[in-house]
Amino acid sequence: MKLFIDSANLAEIREALSWGLVDGVTTNPTLIAKERAEPTALIAEICRIVDGPISVETCAMKGDEMVADARELSKVHQNITVKIPMTTEGLKATRILSRAGIKTNLTLVFTPVQAMLAAKAGATFVSPFIGRLDDIGATGMDVVRDTVQIYRNYGFRTEIIVASIRHPIHVLEAARAGAHIGTVPFKVLELLTKHPLTTSGIERFLEDWQRVPKKQP
Ligand code: G3P
Repeated sequence: MKLFIDSANLAEIREALSWGLVDGVTTNPTLIAKERAEPTALIAEICRIVDGPISVETCAMKGDEMVADARELSKVHQNITVKIPMTTEGLKATRILSRAGIKTNLTLVFTPVQAMLAAKAGATFVSPFIGRLDDIGATGMDVVRDTVQIYRNYGFRTEIIVASIRHPIHVLEAARAGAHIGTVPFKVLELLTKHPLTTSGIERFLEDWQRVPKKQP
């Protein structure tokens, strides 16, 4: 399973990269707005440090405007993947961009059928938002499980990015379901490495090591 970081923060991306846990990056307008940086320069810097797909969202709403925006964004770097909202205009744009060889990530996907339509349009990636479904009392992971099944049934090549991940169990369940990718916020990425028994085990070993007689230098 590939892990992407869901962040536009350079410090977080650099730190997670040093752990070897960044196969790609996903951003969205909210994440970019938090950084208070000039967006093109920020995106270019992310592309410079990460060797993998970098998702950047279009804020255009008409298909032809999305295509124009995507063409501009893809000039920044060959790894740019254009995030496109799941709408009829988004599907139009995805068909055109897929034929033009520009990578796309159909976003704000909340049903398996939306995910199927994204694949039929030729999307490179699809992003079901599982945390936001859990927030309203649905089971986000069911969308992932059904999408994995549908893609297998028909041999769709679109890769599933499990998005809106809120905690480590989401990552575990995404891996169990056979999703290709999880895009994980920095705090959750850090939590994936932790276990209380790991922490207490380290503390115990360090204490015991203090009691071992050492040679004088
Ligand atoms: O990048 C898209 C997605 O991961 C957003 O997550 O936490 O805003 O629902 P969230």
